[in-house]
Amino acid sequence: MANVLLAASASVSVYKACDLASKLSQAGHTVRAVLTANAAKLVSPQLFEAVTGQPAFVSEWGENRRAAMDHIDLAKFAELVVVAPCSANLAARLAHGFADDLVSTALLAVAPGVPRLVCPAMNPNMLQQPAVQRNFDQLRADGWQFVEAEAGHMACGDHGTGRLAEPQAILRAVEFVLTSKP
Ligand SMILES: Cc1cc2nc3c(=O)[nH]c(=O)nc-3n(C[C@H](O)[C@H](O)[C@H](O)COP(=O)(O)O)c2cc1C
Repeated sequence: MANVLLAASASVSVYKACDLASKLSQAGHTVRAVLTANAAKLVSPQLFEAVTGQPAFVSEWGENRRAAMDHIDLAKFAELVVVAPCSANLAARLAHGFADDLVSTALLAVAPGVPRLVCPAMNPNMLQQPAVQRNFDQLRADGWQFVEAEAGHMACGDHGTGRLAEPQAILRAVEFVLTSKP
């Protein structure tokens, strides 16, 4: 069993991240969710707290902070990082080393050997953009492992590849990564 840091960005599929958090917890993992500010407009951090029994985080500033330096505490907590869903915007920030919110700052502070899974989710045209693909290629080169987006019907009405992988598939990837960890 592992401490899983679940980072969620503002995709319409963020509701699936709640199910993923629940499934990870039921599998025996300790899950702490960290949401971008926009993700927290789509789903409440309180929902993640309810299904994980752990605090959920959005900002480490002012009254929203939990400790003196939440980004360091979260990074030290993480034995495995899962970014689900990963928006085009968050992929760009991670690929370029931005540290402009709690998600990006905590992920930068995670120790080098900690496994990282990223689960993209976006409109098929967004996913195919060269700029987006460049950012994902950079994350691959940086050692991130991928649970690729699936093909199917999108919330925007389009069909194509871009749907967040199903929580069960992400859970399987988590178990695979943990069991193959040296
Ligand atoms: C309802 C809604 C759904 C969205 N879904 C996605 C999505 O699936 N993937 C994506 O990359 N952006 C999506 N966006 C756009 C992002 O939310 C936007 O780029 C935002 O700046 C991302 O912020 P974040 O990466 O800090 O969470 C969506 C926006 C809205 C309003």
